[in-house]
Amino acid sequence: MLAELFRQFGTDKETWHRYSHVYEWLLADLRDKPDLRLLEVGVREGRSIRAWEKYFPQAEIVGVDVDPACASIEFKRARVVTGDSTKPETFEMLGMFDVVIDDGSHNARDQFATWRNVWPRTRSLCVIEDVAFHGRKDQFFLMDNIYNELKRSAETAHPNRIVSHWTIFAGELVAMKRNPDAGGR
Ligand SMILES: C[S@@+](CC[C@H](N)C(=O)[O-])C[C@H]1O[C@@H](n2cnc3c(N)ncnc32)[C@H](O)[C@@H]1O
Repeated sequence: MLAELFRQFGTDKETWHRYSHVYEWLLADLRDKPDLRLLEVGVREGRSIRAWEKYFPQAEIVGVDVDPACASIEFKRARVVTGDSTKPETFEMLGMFDVVIDDGSHNARDQFATWRNVWPRTRSLCVIEDVAFHGRKDQFFLMDNIYNELKRSAETAHPNRIVSHWTIFAGELVAMKRNPDAGGR
C-alpha cells in the first residue's frame, strides 16, 4: 500500500530508497489511531505529505520546511509551517505529535539538532531518514549524541527506559519508539 502511494506521488522514499516496507511495519499499529498527528520535516514539492494524507485519512498532518515556497503548496488537509528544524522556536506552537519524521537536510549535525527539538514532542515514533547520506561516520555522530543526550535526560539514567525500540534500518533510517511507560522529557 505505502509502496504504491509513495510511487504514485513520486517521493524518493520509494523511487530511490526502499523505505515503504519499513514504514508499513512501523506505522501499522498507528494507522487507525483516532486524532493521529504526524509531523514531517522536509516538504519540498509535498510528495510525501500527499502520500501521508492518503495513508492516514483522518490524521492531522503538519510539514515544516525552511523554504517559504513550501507554505503555498495546496494540500487536502495538511499545512506547512515555514521554519528551520534546527531551531527550537520553529516547533514552539505546534504541540505534540504521534509520529515525527525528519526528511530535512540529512546533515548529521542538523539531524541531531532537529531530534533534540522534536523528541520532546514525540508521543510514539520518531524516524530520521537518510542517516548515512553524507557518509557512515555521520551515523555514529548522530547515534552517539542521541544516546548521550538520553542518558543526560532528567527522567532516567538509562536510555532504554525512554526508548522501547531503536533500530537503524538498512544503514539508512533510524526509528525510535518512545516507551509509553517511561513518560516524557
Ligand atoms: C529531501 S527534501 C524532502 C522531500 C519530501 N519529504 C518527500 O519525500 O517528497 C528536503 C527538504 O528539506 C528542507 N530542509 C533542509 N534543511 C532544512 C531545515 N534545517 N529545516 C527545515 N527544512 C529543511 C529543504 O528545503 C527540502 O525541501
